[in-house]
Amino acid sequence: MSGPSLHKLDAHRSIHDGVVTEGRDLLNLLLKVRLEKQKDHEKHARMTAEVLIEHWETRLIAHADSEEEKFYEEKIKEKPELAVPLTMLKRDHDLFRTIIDEIKQLMNKDTITDEMVDYFKAIYVLAKIHNQHEEGYLFDNH
Ligand SMILES: [Fe+2]
Ligand SMILES: [Fe+2]
Repeated sequence: MSGPSLHKLDAHRSIHDGVVTEGRDLLNLLLKVRLEKQKDHEKHARMTAEVLIEHWETRLIAHADSEEEKFYEEKIKEKPELAVPLTMLKRDHDLFRTIIDEIKQLMNKDTITDEMVDYFKAIYVLAKIHNQHEEGYLFDNH
């Protein structure tokens, strides 16, 4: 997920779109499972939440880590004026990490709470906006 593909807009955008679309689909599944009436629905909701946490960790946060490892610095070397926007984008990455940590704490409770669902919705919306801004700053000559 690192290397040259981060430097090409089409490839980078397709990583973004895949992560956000799959995250949205899993979130919708969680919302649906929570409304189920059969006796195992709590278990299903917990399993879906675990898959969703894993999705954001292995796809979104791993992508952010790989950007911060090298890609952002290379961009700043090319264009020093990107230093401020990239600091803001790193702050978004930190918020992704914070939200996932919060969700993991909430997983210690017996049920999947509305609060946890709010966090899942928040990371989805933030990821979507972050990706648009990142594509704008890094590839559209801002
Ligand atoms: Fe990013
Ligand atoms: Fe990215």
